Amino acid sequence: MTKVRPTAVLDGLGSCLPPRVLTNEDVRRRGVLNTSDAWIRSRTGIARRRVAEDGISTGDLAVAAGRAAQKSAGARADLVLVATTTPDRRCPATAPEVAARLGLDAVPAFDLSAVCSGFLYGLTVAAALVRTGVCARPLVIGAETYSRIVDPLDRDSAVIFGDGAGAALLRPGDRGEPGALAATDWGADGGGADLIAIAVGGARRPDPGGRAGRQERYFRMRGREVYAQAVRRMTDSSRVVLAAAGWSPEAVGAFIGHQANQRILDAVAVRVGIPAHRCHGNLRDVGNTAAASLPLALADTAARRRVRPGTRTLLTAFGGGLTWASAALTWPAALPCDLPPEPLTASVPTPATPRRTFSWPLSTTTS
Ligand code: UT7
Repeated sequence: MTKVRPTAVLDGLGSCLPPRVLTNEDVRRRGVLNTSDAWIRSRTGIARRRVAEDGISTGDLAVAAGRAAQKSAGARADLVLVATTTPDRRCPATAPEVAARLGLDAVPAFDLSAVCSGFLYGLTVAAALVRTGVCARPLVIGAETYSRIVDPLDRDSAVIFGDGAGAALLRPGDRGEPGALAATDWGADGGGADLIAIAVGGARRPDPGGRAGRQERYFRMRGREVYAQAVRRMTDSSRVVLAAAGWSPEAVGAFIGHQANQRILDAVAVRVGIPAHRCHGNLRDVGNTAAASLPLALADTAARRRVRPGTRTLLTAFGGGLTWASAALTWPAALPCDLPPEPLTASVPTPATPRRTFSWPLSTTTS
């Protein structure tokens, strides 16, 4: 019988970025967007993003990030949750295969769909399972391959999204420990479901197939409207979670918001009352990686030792659904493992078939 402890603690962090780098200049050179490095940098803060090679899937990135998080904690997971908008297949979920490839025998595993809020939704669910003794070491992975669903001709999304995966391994613990969750907040507004969506392919509108349905198979985001909602929802949710934790904004030593757009992050920080020098992230180098965004930024900030363990930390996210979520926690003692990066392996061999409909016609630079 598991002894129930007061809270969940982030005990391990891991990440995986595919090696191929796509710079703003690469995007401009494709010549289909009429954009520029200067526009993308000044309007979003993004300079480059990573793109998974053909044959590398969301699950492949998730396995590498999950393995790194387990190594960082020196422990194995007893539940696997994969937050993703880009699962390997529509059925079954990606998480069971990830768990199997991690060598985790018969542990429960499921996907969670909350778009860019997916990691914090997953953290909220996993922490509740820990607090109630349902499991002790859930592995929460945010993993995405948006390069498979973004329309290379869409100015609102083609310049901001990238691929990657990040993961956190939790354990039961006490409130005073570094990495302890103090409070979470989450919410949704399905009235805004059309602002971020893929029109076809679900039960409401099955994929019509052929050329006719091609445009509708892409991910679409109504950028300006989403921008306004993102600022409002992340600000409100941040205030709610700080109040629930009993922390003033001045007490927050580290802030990481969903890495979507630097102007959105700056606006939220100003409204919540967090000074710029306490804001962290890796938006410039990885772009918007949806559910992978926060765990990637956490792992990156931890690897650079930018925040002292125990520092009061605020995380917040916003995404399709509409969904939003925030967490108040102290900065974990865990460091992403210093071992050489895991070789990125595909679960299935790269098919020797023509390029898929959703792959970008990329002109890329390798890091
Ligand atoms: O991850 C889930 C949540 N997602 C987000 O939070 C993303 C939210 N939205 C955004 O980050 C921004 O709305 C975008 C980056 C998508 C677009 O930036 P914006 O500042 O909202 O651009 P806009 O649509 O208001 O357009 C401003 C100008 C327009 O030109 P005019 O009419 O002022 O001459 C656009 O035609 O910028 C032009 N423009 C571009 N120019 C070069 C729009 N997109 C681009 C582009 N490259 N990619």
